Amino acid sequence: MKVLVAYATAHGSTGDVARRIGSILQQNGHDVTVREAQYITDVNGYEAFVLGTAIESGVWLPALTEFVMRFEGQIKDKPTYVWVNCIRVMEEYGMSHIMEYYMPKELLAKLNVRGITALAGKLDLGSVDWTERWTLSTRYDGHAWPTNFDGDFRDWDKIFDWGISVIKDLQAVKLQQI
Ligand SMILES: Cc1cc2nc3c(=O)[nH]c(=O)nc-3n(C[C@H](O)[C@H](O)[C@H](O)COP(=O)(O)O)c2cc1C
Repeated sequence: MKVLVAYATAHGSTGDVARRIGSILQQNGHDVTVREAQYITDVNGYEAFVLGTAIESGVWLPALTEFVMRFEGQIKDKPTYVWVNCIRVMEEYGMSHIMEYYMPKELLAKLNVRGITALAGKLDLGSVDWTERWTLSTRYDGHAWPTNFDGDFRDWDKIFDWGISVIKDLQAVKLQQI
């Protein structure tokens, strides 16, 4: 299938995850394009979408929200899979908190979402500027201080497993189309 992996990132680490997911799908025979959401001008011809974003202050980065709003009409009937990269997922009850508060329900309800997850991200406090430091200290959404999570927590095995779950679901979609 022709698949678009669209992602939003502030510091680049979600892009690495997008490229990894893209290559897993590609190796499985899909025709995959991986691109940063803000630079996508056309979604014609794609049969499935994998959408990912980093989380800041408890919400999606605007680039992915804007992408969905821009192309909702063309995406809505296609199988769609969503992931977020964040830190809160590593806290107790992190996954349920994210599903409740980090996933914009009204927006997602407009799409044909068949898979959704949260994956641990990467926080490099040495590379955040003063504005982001201020955001982290005042608006970071978590129980633990983000300084406890300074590092790269991306779990490539979990990312692989999620990629495989997308592939399996796309197979099911194909079978339904026969
Ligand atoms: C300014 C800022 C605010 C953040 N706020 C949150 C937050 O509210 N909840 C959370 O779980 N992670 C938060 N994070 C962590 C990021 O979601 C995580 O580091 C992500 O993997 C970054 O991805 P990127 O490298 O693609 O930008 C924040 C990070 C920054 C820099």
